[in-house]
This record gives sequence, C-alpha cells and structure tokens, in this order.
Amino acid sequence: MATLIKNGTIVTAETEFLADLFIEGETIKAIGRDLNVAADEVIDATGKYVLPGGVDQHVHFSFNYKGSKVRGFETSNAAAVGGTTTLIEFVNQEAGKGLVQSIEDYRKTDVDGLAMVDYGFHIVMTDPRDEVIEEIPDLAAAGYPTMKLFMAYKGMFFHADDDAILKALMKGKEAGVTVMVHAENAEMIDVLTKKLIAEGKTEPYYHAISRPPVVEAEATRRAIYLAELADAPLYVVHVSAKEAIEEIKQAYGRGQKIYGETCTHYLVLDREDLAKPDFHGAKYVCSPALRTEEHRVALWEAIDNKWLNAVSSDHCGFDWKNQKHMGFGVGKSFADIPNGAPSMQNRLNVLWTYGVESGKITRSKLVDLYATMPAKINGMEKKGQLEVGFDGDVVVFDPSYLGIISVDNNLEDVDYCPFEGFKQIGRPDTVLLRGKKIVENGKYIGKRGQGQFIPGKPFGDAYK
Ligand code: URP
Ligand code: ZN
Ligand code: ZN
Repeated sequence: MATLIKNGTIVTAETEFLADLFIEGETIKAIGRDLNVAADEVIDATGKYVLPGGVDQHVHFSFNYKGSKVRGFETSNAAAVGGTTTLIEFVNQEAGKGLVQSIEDYRKTDVDGLAMVDYGFHIVMTDPRDEVIEEIPDLAAAGYPTMKLFMAYKGMFFHADDDAILKALMKGKEAGVTVMVHAENAEMIDVLTKKLIAEGKTEPYYHAISRPPVVEAEATRRAIYLAELADAPLYVVHVSAKEAIEEIKQAYGRGQKIYGETCTHYLVLDREDLAKPDFHGAKYVCSPALRTEEHRVALWEAIDNKWLNAVSSDHCGFDWKNQKHMGFGVGKSFADIPNGAPSMQNRLNVLWTYGVESGKITRSKLVDLYATMPAKINGMEKKGQLEVGFDGDVVVFDPSYLGIISVDNNLEDVDYCPFEGFKQIGRPDTVLLRGKKIVENGKYIGKRGQGQFIPGKPFGDAYK
C-alpha cells in the first residue's frame, strides 16, 4: 500500500513548509514539492496541516484504585481519533513478580491483539527488593527503558520511599533507564487529609486543599536532590505547580538533567472545577490537584521555554456515576474518590485550540510537545517525526473545523468528559498508523489489534 498526501503544510518540531508526503508500506519514503510517485491512494491536504502522529507517554489502562479499575486498551481508538498513534502505559509491578514479567504478563492478557494504536510501557516499581533493583538493566534490554515511582499515596502498595527512588536512580543510570517520579509529599498530604476529614471537610474541593503546591514543590526538590546524589537524569511527570517548575528551572541552572511534562488538564482546567455542585466536582479529582490561573500561566510559559518538555494526557478512565461515587455518602470523603480523569482523545484538540489558536505556542512547538519529544524521551526512534525513514504515523489536521468537546462524541467509554462544553477549533481529519488509514473524516475506521508494541531504546533524551 502506498499513500501520497498532497499539498499539505508539513509541520515539524522546527519548521513548517508546503510539500507532499509519500508513504510506502509502513514507512515515510519521500517529502517534497510535486512528488511524482505512483500511489494507491492520494489524500488532498490542501488547506490542511500534516502533523506526525502523537505520542502520549502518560496513560493508565490498568490503574486500580481500591479495587476499582479503569477502562483498558479496548478504548484506544479514542487516542486515534484524537491524533495520537502511540500510547505509553504505566504497568504496576505485581507483588512477588519481577519487573519485566509484570509487563509481559499484562501485555499478553490485556494489550497484544487488542490495542488500536502502537504502544510501549513504563514499569511502576512497587516492590523494591534488592533482586528487583538488580533487574533494572533487564528492563532496558527488553525494550522498557523507563520506570515510575510514586512519591505520593501513603499506605498504597505502589508508594515509594526515598530509599527506593535513590536505588532506582543509581541502577537505572547504569543501563540508561529513565526514572520518572510522581512528585508529591505523601506525609504532608496524609496529615492534611486527616485534618480536613476530622473537620467535616469531605467534599471533592478539599482534594485540592489537601495537596497544595508546596506538597508538589517539596517532593520535586527532594527528587532532584536524589538525582543529583545519583548523578542521574530524572523525569518529573504531571507537573502542575509554578513552584515545581521553579525547582526544575533551578536544577537546569545547576547543569542537572531534569526533564518534566505537564498534562492537558493542568493547562485549561481550574481548582474551582472541584467545587461544582452535586458531586460533579469529583470528575476533576486527579493528582497533583488542579490549580489556579497563575499556575496555568507558568505552565504555558514553561512548555514554550522547554523547562517542561512534553504534554501528556495522564488519561485515567474512571466513570463518575459508579467509580467516582466511591467518595460519596455518609462516612466517605474526597480521599475515597479514585484519582484521575479521562483525556486521551482531546490532548491535541486542547493544545491546538487553547495553545496554537490563542497564540500561546506555535504549531511547531505543539508538534515537539505532543509527538517529537515524547518519542525521544522514550527511545522510540521511528516515532514522533515526519522524516524519511520514520514510521508513516501521520495526522491530516483540518484547522477550519469548529465544534464543541463533549462526552457525546467521545470514544473513551467513560460517562463524562472533563472538557465538556469547551470550544474546539480544528480536528484530525485523517490519521494513518504506519501507513494504514485508521481515521477518516474524523471517524475511527481501524481494527482492534492493529497496534504494535514499539520497544524503547535505553539512554533516551534525558541522558543526552
Ligand atoms: O490522578 C492521577 N494522576 N491518576 C493517575 C495515577 C497517577 O498518579 O498518575
Ligand atoms: Zn502520577
Ligand atoms: Zn498518571
């Protein structure tokens, strides 16, 4: 199969230009003006932008909160219609199992043959025994060169202390494994949570009060110092507070390799969303908590200046009606609400409408944040760029589309959308996954199991 995309504006992380793009088989074979090639299908991209398929390096399809599980890879067509062609999922190490085995068992039962876009994995280390630390180099060899540790969530099986983080950083460095941290101080949150509940302050809004910016700033700084001691790079996931950005900037200034991402919801949603009546605020319970305008201003500035390097979704598909309501009723509180919000479908739409169209970032910056850098950070060498030799993952984006974001046209299979009612400018019209059309006129037309595992190479961009 050969596809020619004609007369579009190709957008890369550096520049944009009018050209044709030719894909043969699974690979981009040529980019240039008036390409004279034989193609099975010609897509007219006049007036449209041609972007690399997005790489979303932060999604949860197996996250489990107090026994309640999120939607899985059977919903990954939502990523496709949103212009994302590669997802990277966090898999918890299972008790008593090794790191590689935990991922591979999960892959067999829940991912391979089911995913509708390409995929990779980060392990979440939950059981940092000495032999598990020693296994870290095997992760890199198996194509899983990233691992997450949760500094937050005191008392949960996946909470990690400084001992585990330091050992992971030291061992990870030997093998080129990038250590990622969820940076929030678990003890601070625990004290504040118990105090608020004792005072009868149990509504969803108090989730944000129990996790103020200082909670994030302290853990970010601590993780940075642990990385300094290990002389290792560090990746801080879902940065939301201006104080945490400040810690990362200062570390850059000292010459440390501290990378970080933010997520779509932190760029456009507000702490006040948690105060919505009739328990609707529960829809916005995610960690770190949503913040205020001053933090959003700092986040847009940080992604524009590369103090943060990627925008991910942190997609986490819990229903409002059944699952978020675990925190509703007598004896319940915000602490019982599963953390996380669904958002894999709208990452590009939100970045385009509220970033590009409002003049906060350029189209090239968008491409860098949503595709190019995430691919580089995760060692996916043929993803995230429109270049000859790269995978034919392409989005033909129509900037003239006008719509309203709603759960009614969402494929995430969750009963709400945190961006409900938001204006949307532009949309992915056509999406190709390794040369195969999986979205046409904004509708998913692919098949289950079309996605492939993409091994990551160790020593990703945070090591460069
Ligand atoms: O609230 C969130 N972010 N839920 C997903 C798990 C995590 O902490 O990334
Ligand atoms: Zn997290
Ligand atoms: Zn997450």
